[in-house]
Amino acid sequence: MLFVRSTEPSAMTHTLFHYEPLFRQLELQHQEAWSQHLRQQLQAATDPVTNGHLNLWTTAWQNLPHCPDAQITAHSDAVTVSGTLSDHNRQILTTCLQSLHPWRKGPFEFFGVPIDTEWRSCLKWDRLAPHVNFHGRTVLDVGCGNGYYGWRMLNAGASLVLGLDPFLLYVMQFEFLKKFAAPETPHFILPLSDAALPKTPGHFDITLSMGVLYHRSSPIEHLQSLRQTLAPRGTLILETLVLDEPGQHVLVPEDRYAKMRNVWFIPSVDMLLLWLRRTGYTNLRLADLSRTTVAEQRSTPWMTFESLENFLSPQDHSKTIEGLPAPVRALILADRR
Ligand SMILES: C[S@@+](CC[C@H](N)C(=O)[O-])C[C@H]1O[C@@H](n2cnc3c(N)ncnc32)[C@H](O)[C@@H]1O
Repeated sequence: MLFVRSTEPSAMTHTLFHYEPLFRQLELQHQEAWSQHLRQQLQAATDPVTNGHLNLWTTAWQNLPHCPDAQITAHSDAVTVSGTLSDHNRQILTTCLQSLHPWRKGPFEFFGVPIDTEWRSCLKWDRLAPHVNFHGRTVLDVGCGNGYYGWRMLNAGASLVLGLDPFLLYVMQFEFLKKFAAPETPHFILPLSDAALPKTPGHFDITLSMGVLYHRSSPIEHLQSLRQTLAPRGTLILETLVLDEPGQHVLVPEDRYAKMRNVWFIPSVDMLLLWLRRTGYTNLRLADLSRTTVAEQRSTPWMTFESLENFLSPQDHSKTIEGLPAPVRALILADRR
């Protein structure tokens, strides 16, 4: 059983975007500069004037039914919120959850309502988990989406998980879950991008960047800024699109890649390893190399837009719709030198 919510009345008040416990924890770990910097960055990111949907999502968050015996478990594929809820309240809950469409990363289950997300992120977790010891480690997850992996990492023993994701909808999906967790649960997501990372050294034991590098127009700077977040000998977990071919090559798509406009650099594994060596990492380990299939990424009732099936060539699934090599992902572990 994990993250059981206390029934003490004083512990049952939940606040949206409640980051004070995070800042206190960073300060206790002598990361005052980080705490101050992130505090300043937050104000604009959660401003309803610049985020048109925020009021709607906040109302849905406020309308989530109350459940004094809620608990969150994360030991199997679906991160699950369970507890006692009437059928009427389950209906209200479902409407609130639907208002946060599209649900991309998961799966989740809320009080018996399964959320079949676009990505079966449990498959990536299964590729990652055997290679990492999370026990007692502080973790930074850059581009964390709605925090699916954060719950799995806490279950695997992480002492703190801080996620960053600039897309406020995903942060709200996280806040929906967090509302049912114990207030002291050490899991936070800030609605910020990697550009908001402080320039001062961080002290995280593990930093993840999964599915982000190819979106960055300056991948070298991304790797440098991730290094800066790590404690000495801390570990980077890097997952990104690669070219599955020998030698040092890099693909820069002329225009879109798998219908995505914002894909910049797809290196071969050897090229990626070179980038990592040049940016101050050592002990590089290729933990996994996998082709992404429609068993892992597909449209569902909780993500009704196009998905991988529509992004691949209908005649040949080894090519994207643009005729480029279809998505293959590498998972690499690297220690800060
Ligand atoms: C392909 S998803 C990967 C999500 C998750 N890490 C995973 O592996 O399943 C990329 C995520 O990175 C976020 N993102 C995009 N640009 C970013 C940036 N500059 N800094 C941090 N996150 C970013 C997106 O909002 C999105 O949630």
